[in-house]
Amino acid sequence: MSSVNYAEKIPNNVNLVSDRTLQRALEHWQPHFIEWWKGMGPSDFQSADVYLRTATSVDAQGWATYGTVKMPDYRWGIFLADQQAERKIGFGDQMGRPVWQQVPGEYRSTLRRLIVTQGDTEPASVEQQRLLGHTCPSLYDLRNLFQINVEEGRHLWAMVYLLHAYFGRDGREEAEELLARHSGDADKPRILTTFNEPISDWLSLYCFTYFTDRDGKYQLKSLAESAFDPLSRTCRFMLTEEAHHMFVGETGIGRVVKRTLEVMKEIGTDDPAKVRAAGAVDLPTLQKYLNFWCSSSLDLFGSEISSNSAANFANGLKGRPDEAQYEDHVLRASSFKMMTPAGAEEVPMLNALNEVMRESYLKDCEIGLKRWNRQIERAGFAFRLALPSSRFRRTIGAWAGQPVDPEGKMLAKEEYEKQLGQWIPTEADRAFVHSLMQKVTEPGKMAAWIAPPERGINNLPVEYEYVKLH
Ligand SMILES: [Fe+2]
Ligand SMILES: [Fe+2]
Repeated sequence: MSSVNYAEKIPNNVNLVSDRTLQRALEHWQPHFIEWWKGMGPSDFQSADVYLRTATSVDAQGWATYGTVKMPDYRWGIFLADQQAERKIGFGDQMGRPVWQQVPGEYRSTLRRLIVTQGDTEPASVEQQRLLGHTCPSLYDLRNLFQINVEEGRHLWAMVYLLHAYFGRDGREEAEELLARHSGDADKPRILTTFNEPISDWLSLYCFTYFTDRDGKYQLKSLAESAFDPLSRTCRFMLTEEAHHMFVGETGIGRVVKRTLEVMKEIGTDDPAKVRAAGAVDLPTLQKYLNFWCSSSLDLFGSEISSNSAANFANGLKGRPDEAQYEDHVLRASSFKMMTPAGAEEVPMLNALNEVMRESYLKDCEIGLKRWNRQIERAGFAFRLALPSSRFRRTIGAWAGQPVDPEGKMLAKEEYEKQLGQWIPTEADRAFVHSLMQKVTEPGKMAAWIAPPERGINNLPVEYEYVKLH
């Protein structure tokens, strides 16, 4: 039931062939997608042979089948996790009732907006990363970048399928718009700010995949709880792919830390200027990148106090990540103590769900920090990396525009502005990081600012020629 039919134009496990109208509509969208990929996807590598995994079924054996393909020939398809028999709504006011196989009329526009907002981030990140191939630190990293890119393309397919299959003409129009907005475009930008930030160096890519793809994980987890069953099943399968994106971020930053520590030992100092002169990323600069991407990603969870998130939960559209871990799934009788610039405030729990999600996200972010700090400690250096406070540099919610330092302390506005360059990358920091970005494409070789990975992809050696450039 879950196997994918590859003989079809659009690989799928949703029995597309049984719905001619839907199939035709998606086959009409397909060339627009390919055109978008060629124009806005990875620049210049379309004829390279890339060692990629492709889903051929949604079970453990088939979802990661490896082979060499040219990216425009990648089999982007539609895969939903298997339907759970008699699945019931797991939270909100309709808890315990059967889940929906169609969109209830009263939630149509809200669900459409949730799907479009999620769908918009997928091609946006491909656009943000499109020039990175030119400065790859190794073929291993280049391959990982392209793996992420094709999978974000597939995530777009996942959302476009829902729009086409369940939202009629509105859905088809939204699907076209998903290809018409572009990251950073002055007239037609992507919906969310973080997805309009340029990613022009690999340190930013690792931070983005660590922090922003992890936001994606939390959004997908909360949509996987949805009473709208096709959305839940789509998101459940997307999560299996998403894990690799965060792996690239966590190991990428870990390898940067490792190389920096080696250099610090070689030159016998942690002096940032000397570390830079020796061609590595000094730890204070890395901290600034973490501050930038973490704070930017925190905004993606929305306002601390939100009536939208309350309604989405009460109506069964969007739950909390891993809803089953909680005891109360209705939340009509509980409250949350919220800290705002005006002081502590008791808020109905339903209105505080963005903050609940943000807090569990930050806990998940801590895991990598602990690992990297252990590396630093073992190397005998005193520096420690840290996550910025969730009040730092926010542009959405109660703390938006507040002059708060990375520890969460309120400062005078002038003081904050004076010090900001010590907390997030300055133009000079970015120029330095860019100066390190030299393309390395000899199999097994790494750029000087990053350590090799511990192992290759799919049990292949690190020296494997993961991308064959012609
Ligand atoms: Fe994605
Ligand atoms: Fe991702």
